[in-house]
Formats: sequence, C-alpha cells, structure tokens
Amino acid sequence: MSTFQKGFPANFLWGGATAANQIEGAFDKDGKGLSTSDMAAFKDPYAGGSVNNFTFDVNSEELEEYLQHPEKYLFPKRWGIDFYHRYKEDIALFAEMGFKTFRISISWARIFPTGLEAEPNEKGLQFYDNVFDECAKYGIEPLVTMSHYEMPITLTQKYNGWMSRELIALFEKYARAIFQRYKNKVNYWITFNEMNMNLNSLYTGAGVLADKVENKLEAAYQASHHQFLASAAAVKAAREIMPNAKMGCMINQIESYAKTTKPEDQLQALKSNQLNMFYPDVKVRGAYPAYMERYFAENDIHVHMEEGDSELLKEGTVDFVAFSYYMSHVTEARPDASKLAGTFDSPIKNEYLELSEWDWPIDPIGLRISLNKLYDRYEVPLFLVENGLGAKDVLTADGKIHDDYRIDYIKKHIIEMKEAIRDGVELMGYTTWGCIDLISCGTSQMSKRYGFIYVDQDDEGKGSLKRIPKDSFYWYKKVIASNGEELE
Ligand code: BG6
Repeated sequence: MSTFQKGFPANFLWGGATAANQIEGAFDKDGKGLSTSDMAAFKDPYAGGSVNNFTFDVNSEELEEYLQHPEKYLFPKRWGIDFYHRYKEDIALFAEMGFKTFRISISWARIFPTGLEAEPNEKGLQFYDNVFDECAKYGIEPLVTMSHYEMPITLTQKYNGWMSRELIALFEKYARAIFQRYKNKVNYWITFNEMNMNLNSLYTGAGVLADKVENKLEAAYQASHHQFLASAAAVKAAREIMPNAKMGCMINQIESYAKTTKPEDQLQALKSNQLNMFYPDVKVRGAYPAYMERYFAENDIHVHMEEGDSELLKEGTVDFVAFSYYMSHVTEARPDASKLAGTFDSPIKNEYLELSEWDWPIDPIGLRISLNKLYDRYEVPLFLVENGLGAKDVLTADGKIHDDYRIDYIKKHIIEMKEAIRDGVELMGYTTWGCIDLISCGTSQMSKRYGFIYVDQDDEGKGSLKRIPKDSFYWYKKVIASNGEELE
C-alpha cells in the first residue's frame, strides 16, 4: 500500500509575506534612521516605452541629490501602507483569513539607526514587540527576515555597504540584539532575503553604489561573501541565544530551461541553475561549491577571503531553505550567457507561458520542478515564502475587487505544491507575497498589487488607506480552513 503524503501536512504554515520597507511607512518616526530603501525614488517604470521592472537602483550622484533635495521626489517606500500605525487592523484581517504564519522583516535602521550605535533604539524594538504580541493573540507564528532589501544608509555612505567586512560585526550586533529581545516570540528566522539578487541590483541587495566599484560582477560576489559570513555569524549567535529556533536562508528561485535539446543549450541551463543554487549551496553545505572556482577564474572574479572564513561558513549552516518563486527563465548557449545566468536579464521568451501585466512568465509547473530540485539537492525542509501575481485591481462601483485572475494564479501554484509533496518534498509552509497590497520593490508602484486585501492608495501616496478584502480574501480563507483541499 502506498504511504506517500497525499495532501498538506497538518502543521503546514499557511500565511502571507511582507517586508518592512514596503509596508511600514513612518520612515523617520521613533528614532528610525534613514535606510537605503528610503532613498529609492519613484522613477516611471514605463518611461522607456515598455515596462521596466527594475527602477530601484541608486547611484552616488542620485543619492546625494535625494539627500539634498528630497522635496523634489516621491519616495513611496517612506510611506508604505502605514502598517506602523495600522498593524492591529491588518493582523486582525490576517487572522480572519486563518493565517498560521505571517512573514515580516525587521528594519535594521529602526533598531540601529545608523548601524553604528552601541545600544539599540528602544522604541524600534518596542514596535516589533507589539507586532509579535498582536500575532500571538491569534496564534499566528511570525516568520522574520532580518534583512530584506534595506539597511541604514549611513553604512552605504561610510563603507559602500556590503563591500566592507566591517558590516559583518555590525550585522552580528544587530542580530544579537533582536535575538535577545525576541527569543521567546519568534521561532522562524531568515537571515537575508534573496541574496542571489545581488547579481541584479547591488544597491537593493547589498547597499552598494555600483558606480563606486570597478567590476560589478566581482563586487556582487565580494558583497555576497561578506553577507554569507554575516549570515553564518548570525546563525551561530542564534544557536547560542535561542537553541530551538529554526534558521533559514532564502533565494529567488528561477528555474532556467534550455531553449532547445541541443546539448550546448542544456549545458548552459545546467550552469545557469548552478549559479542560482550557489547561494543555498554555501548556506546549507557551509562551503563554496567546486563549480565556482572555474566560474570565478573565467570571469576575472577575485573574492577576498580571510583566514577563518571557511570555518565560520561551516559553523553557520541553516536548517531550512526558503525561497520565492514567481517565474522560470529560458536560456541558451551564447558567449555572454554566464554573466546573465540566474538573473532577471534573461531575454528569451517561453512560447508556452503567459505573461503577467509586468511581463513575468507564469509557470506553476516550474514551481513543482523547483521544489523537487531544491529538495533533491539539499534534503532539508523547504519553505515557499513568496509567490503571487502583481496585477492592476479594479474597485467596482459597489466597492468590491473581483480578482479571479489572482485566485487562478495561486490555485495553480498550490496544486503544484501538493504534487511536489506527493513527489516526496518536505514543505513547511507557504506565504503568498504581499498578502496585503504594498509598495512594489522593483518599481515602487502601489498599482502593482499582490494582496488579498486592497489598500486604498495610489502611486503618489494619495488615498484613504482603507483596507478592503478582495474576492481572493474569502477564497484563501477557505483554502486555509480546508488545509489546501478546497480550491474552488
Ligand atoms: C521579491 C522581493 O523578489 O519580489 C519582494 O523579495 C518583492 O520584496 C517581490 O516585492 C515582488 O517584486 P515587485 O517588484 O513586484 O515588488
């Protein structure tokens, strides 16, 4: 008789995901310092004719200008959706949907305003205490990302962000402060959000001003090396302070398919996927994988490492692999292919897939493939901590949002998760991205909405901020109540 797992496990963590810089607002309240995301000025994503998903980079000239003349620009990540003041109402809505978990991130600059202080900012710590207590009221387990695309801007100005080793100790100080404070309230932690995206945006991922480095690709790997060490140091600290906590790493999982069956294309797909897996390879196995040596040599990348680094990487390995999944890519053999691998620069269209309004290929089966590949490779529990559809929602005359397209997207991905579980994959939970509408990371738009809950605000930050459950809200509630069985 077959014993394979047919549905979601009883303790499956259903919920939703957010990040501090995309929801909190209150960017200068209660002692918070300015962070890199507070400097991401709104740039029209359609200015070049077609949609540009990545308007979030900042160079040193822009940073100076934004610091000198903030009044000339819009900075949507400074206002978010005012979660800072409305967290009670929002968490109550998540509880109404039946959330078992809620993914948030802590803003480093709220705890250490410049990153350099000896002592943490009490008001910042208090805010997250309030949020976790509110979650506890409803039995919602927090899942906390320690660094989600932001850091104190002072660290960019003084050190050019993660280019400097100094940041490792500063991050460990931050890690220890939040572990001490929340050790009895938070059991699931992720050190860095989507570290592999350093290859795509040095500023967003690593607080690095790209115009100040000579070789961008090398810089991405150098900054990543420092983050690997900081992550390992944080994991070690966590083991000491809260031995029962589960520590995870996180990547943006993009499966690369070969364009044809031509062996050269197949080989390129293998290499693209290796470059994406490089990040969890280091964090799960505690060492750089063999394939990187040749890659570094052939791309003129010299990562400065010091004595003791290898030991630290070994000592700070993670318990689970978290990942976001939005799309798959297509790749082919071409001279510059290795430089594009695993990043968002893949220009080849997959004729079998539909695109979202932001041109993101929709590929639920790619999720099943990803789950299987990640599990085969690491054999540690997986956690799908981001997935969802960015879409322009329309508020009807009767004040409703009929987002059947979102329901359809999430339903298809849940079906593939279930299939992967039947394939033998150990999946801890699922937190859909932007469970409440929030500011887009890549474009700073409010109009790119992912939520089950509509937030009345436009791209310029105008609106009542009223929260309105969409059709998908009631649908997800049924999904959770039936532990993923009722999908209609
Ligand atoms: C992930 C990020 O890559 O994608 C989130 O971790 C982000 O912060 C999400 O919001 C969706 O991207 P975007 O650009 O649509 O907000």
